[in-house]
Amino acid sequence: MKIRIFSNEDSLAAALARGIVARLQKQPRLVLGLATGRTPLPLYRALAALHDRGASDYAQATTFNLDEFVGLDPSHPGSYRAYMREQLFKHVNLAPRRIHFLDGLAPDLGAGCARFESSVLKAGGIDLQILGIGANGHIGFNEPAPVLSPWSHRVKLTLASRKANAGFFDGKLRDVPREALSMGVATIMHARSIVLMATGREKADVIEKTVTGPVTTRVPASLLQLHHDVEIWLDESAASKLRREGLVAGRGGRLHER
Ligand code: F6R
Repeated sequence: MKIRIFSNEDSLAAALARGIVARLQKQPRLVLGLATGRTPLPLYRALAALHDRGASDYAQATTFNLDEFVGLDPSHPGSYRAYMREQLFKHVNLAPRRIHFLDGLAPDLGAGCARFESSVLKAGGIDLQILGIGANGHIGFNEPAPVLSPWSHRVKLTLASRKANAGFFDGKLRDVPREALSMGVATIMHARSIVLMATGREKADVIEKTVTGPVTTRVPASLLQLHHDVEIWLDESAASKLRREGLVAGRGGRLHER
């Protein structure tokens, strides 16, 4: 896997934002897969700032978000649509019709997931998928389990995932939905390139397992070891276990392969 380590989350976000904008310049019809959560917040700030300076044009770009809660109206501040609107979409010139979410309000959730998969195919597949990682190794809402679902599907959220999201619901766990829709592991693995971002000490253990451990559905992110173009972007805290074990050497965002 290719690993880049940055001194902090802001330098990581700034470098990734510059990389995304450079790709957009080369490939205006870029298809981006996007994540929500705490980790990509500095990335979206950096992308918004670059756009504000006239550095980017999203007019022909397409996005697909990894996941969405079941039963939340898009206007609900806890929905991932609302998160993306606030953090990125209202700051850049993406065409609303090229923004795609799994539909947590669809009368038939399974049919909605199938429509989402068709839209990914129609867009020509995802060029660059941005991922975060749960402390338990989940990607999207693909939680550790004996068996993982390949394609977009309905998920019963674990208590840990609901707690991790409570911050977006004024800290009220009871308001966090119990179910979500998520891209499947195959949907993610079909992306032509993947960048998984992790920042903070609480991700250090799972990053070590993801990068050096066995490929197992018990650590869904470990499946990324099988992808041909995946980079793991870390701050020093998230890389601390890899560093302690002498498994990575790079600094300042230089590429380290292992
Ligand atoms: C969110 C998502 C999740 C998060 C993960 C990490 O769209 O897919 O897998 O990336 O839960 O969340 P944070 O960044 O809040 O630690």
